Amino acid sequence: MGNDFTKVANVSDVPEGTVKVFEINGDQIAVCNAEGKIYAIADFCSHDNGPLDQGTLEDCQIECPRHGARFDVRTGQALCLPAVMPIPTYKVEQRGQEIWVGPKQ
Ligand code: FES
Repeated sequence: MGNDFTKVANVSDVPEGTVKVFEINGDQIAVCNAEGKIYAIADFCSHDNGPLDQGTLEDCQIECPRHGARFDVRTGQALCLPAVMPIPTYKVEQRGQEIWVGPKQ
């Protein structure tokens, strides 16, 4: 209850500026290291399910490789067309050097 976090990786496995995908309970979750901080978002674009992990992460924005929509990895908010709907974000805890991902926020 409220503690359903899963260890997915060590921080060193996701260097700054990179994204790695993990499957947790059937969800594809993209773990992003944006400016040294870890965030977790759904690995699908709200426009047409593009694989966000294959896009570009710059600052705290990730760009969909398919049609160029951008999302804020901190909030899931869509920042530009063609996406208008936000994407889910997940709780993340850094426990020492370990990354733990929790439920959707
Ligand atoms: S699927 Fe991501 S912008 Fe179209």
